[in-house]
Amino acid sequence: MYFQQFYLSCLSHASYMLGSEGKACVVDPQRDVNIYIEEARAQGLKIEHIIETHLHADFVSGHLELAERTGAKIYLGAQAGATFPHVDVHDGDEVPMGRVILRFLETPGHTIESVSIAVIDLDRGPEPFAVLTGDTLFIGDVGRPDLAPNLTPQDLAGMLFDSLHNKLLPLGDDVDPVSGPPQTAFSAWRKPSRSSGFGKTSYA
Ligand SMILES: [Fe+2]
Repeated sequence: MYFQQFYLSCLSHASYMLGSEGKACVVDPQRDVNIYIEEARAQGLKIEHIIETHLHADFVSGHLELAERTGAKIYLGAQAGATFPHVDVHDGDEVPMGRVILRFLETPGHTIESVSIAVIDLDRGPEPFAVLTGDTLFIGDVGRPDLAPNLTPQDLAGMLFDSLHNKLLPLGDDVDPVSGPPQTAFSAWRKPSRSSGFGKTSYA
């Protein structure tokens, strides 16, 4: 599979493109979507899926333009109540993409609609090998629970505790967390894959 990070240093924002068998998914796209379109073209991939791990408070996302330019579907946690065209996702929903399966976990806490994405590469095995955690879990830190206009930080912090302990930690030590900011050295890159961007760059 193809799995690559795109890092925008001025915003400390990381987005990701995953691909398999000619299809691609972009997670948390930055506003300038040309980088994904050009990279997908270079890799021979068609962007069919766009996932927002949550509604972002700190940057303008390119999901709408990317959807318009590629025809890809946008996926967003069902709790978002978004009015733009998208697919609501719930716990356990899956998006099959070639030899890859993207499995959603509802992980509220940073925001009410936050989702994480367990990544299954069928060429590696039937279990997730990585989980994209958005702003829910970082290495050594967790997302802020104080940004929602209609929920208290205490409410969200309680949800975050449950998401971490009931959804992410049970995935086990063999599943690598891949999160928003790049300084969260993701050990996923330790496991090179024949056709991916894995191993190209050290983010440690
Ligand atoms: Fe966030």
